[in-house]
Amino acid sequence: MEDNHTVMDTTLEQLVGSLKDTPGALLPILHRIQDQFGYVPDRALPIIAKALRCTTADVHGVISFYHHFRRSQPGRHLLEVCRAEACQARGAREFERHVKERLRIGFDQTTADGEFTLKAVYCLGNCATGPSLRQGDRVLSRMNPERFDRLVEDLTTYKLELK
Ligand code: FES
Repeated sequence: MEDNHTVMDTTLEQLVGSLKDTPGALLPILHRIQDQFGYVPDRALPIIAKALRCTTADVHGVISFYHHFRRSQPGRHLLEVCRAEACQARGAREFERHVKERLRIGFDQTTADGEFTLKAVYCLGNCATGPSLRQGDRVLSRMNPERFDRLVEDLTTYKLELK
């Protein structure tokens, strides 16, 4: 019976099928899945394992090794806080503390309303004007609690997408 077979499964099977014969197929497959869905869903693991003739534990091991891969659906807005040295010298630790308190989540978590996912990154190439934060494709400079609160307010109240 195919009762539990979903549209997502069909998409995953097609996607995995199109890449399974490429050399070192696992990473390209995982990247493509994350590009498509925003994360690597649990149901992708057996599909990948079957196609590549390995175990789901093998697939899980690779996903866990690369922090780039997300295991749950991200929030509507991805916020990435720089934790590297130059930003730390400019107050990134205090900024990070504020971000976590304001959103009430830690790194690699998503707010209960599904609006924000918080990630740590290590240098955004914006060292001279840190603390730096990336929101979507945009890197914001000289972040502080006030600027962050305004950003959150804009994104949640007005549903603005900053580019
Ligand atoms: S150290 Fe934060 S942007 Fe480079």
